[in-house]
Amino acid sequence: MITTVLFTAAFFAASVASNECPDGWEFFEGSCYTLGETTKDVWYARRKCRELDGYLVEVTTQEENDFVKDLVSRTAADDVSGAYLGVQKFSRQGAWELYTTGTPASYFDFATVSKVQTSSVYSCAVFDRASDWSWVAQSCDSQQGMRFVCERCPMQRECFQGSCYDIRCLPHSHRFISRVCGYAGAQVLEINSEAEKDFIKSFLRNSTVPKSEPYRLNTGNVWLGATDLDTEGDWRWMSDNSELTLTDWADGEPNHFGVYQSRNADCVVLDWQNDWKWNSEKCIFDNYVMCEMEDVSAITG
Ligand SMILES: *[C@@H]1O[C@H](CO)[C@@H](O)[C@H](O)[C@H]1NC(C)=O
Repeated sequence: MITTVLFTAAFFAASVASNECPDGWEFFEGSCYTLGETTKDVWYARRKCRELDGYLVEVTTQEENDFVKDLVSRTAADDVSGAYLGVQKFSRQGAWELYTTGTPASYFDFATVSKVQTSSVYSCAVFDRASDWSWVAQSCDSQQGMRFVCERCPMQRECFQGSCYDIRCLPHSHRFISRVCGYAGAQVLEINSEAEKDFIKSFLRNSTVPKSEPYRLNTGNVWLGATDLDTEGDWRWMSDNSELTLTDWADGEPNHFGVYQSRNADCVVLDWQNDWKWNSEKCIFDNYVMCEMEDVSAITG
């Protein structure tokens, strides 16, 4: 349950059912896509997608490629010459890889094979207007006329007893999670009642985000907004440093060891391998983030 009135304007104002894309994104076969705005390089593009809780699009099928090309051709302004995707080559001899996982790409739509084979500096794949939006290999520094396409999970958001909750698509280490939720005027999940505990478990059992998104160091667990970083064994909520009002530790927890037997486990995750009961975890691991904010649709008059 949220303890402070913390929300910003319109970003999350509307209550959104599960599996919908945020405004400005289009849905196709389980993912959401948008054309980002930039004139900078691929590193900038990658960071911008991440701020939008996504990653540079990783096209893996003909159908997905057709969809994304159509999206780009419909939404790109006339001065846009190309758009980065998340397929990249890290060395001259290297294979084309999907950036988030480093796995070799298996689908390609390169317009000109020769350019791909001979180049050393051309190591980012881009949708190219001059090639009718097929891919060309290009320098990752290209800025002129460039945009990028981001992909993310659909929103998974539910409201309960005056608060709304959403699971963010990308895992983060503990030090970033207050900021991740703060961007949306929200706080990290805290659980203050049996009813809220049961609701969150039901939400997580139904959810599809954990274990399905491509990213490194991913445990599939979800952070809870509690730590004992100040005093070992004295667990506190992060929002106001108050004592825990209720706990749901898994058997043998908190045991000072993380899910992977790491020491100094001063943070808390909801553990999917333990029916989402609480487990002390090392704060540097990447876990999913669940944000909690006031349900503005429930405010009347
Ligand atoms: C989870 O799914 C069940 C069955 O569809 C549904 O009754 C329940 O309300 C869902 N829980 C949440 C929190 O959405």
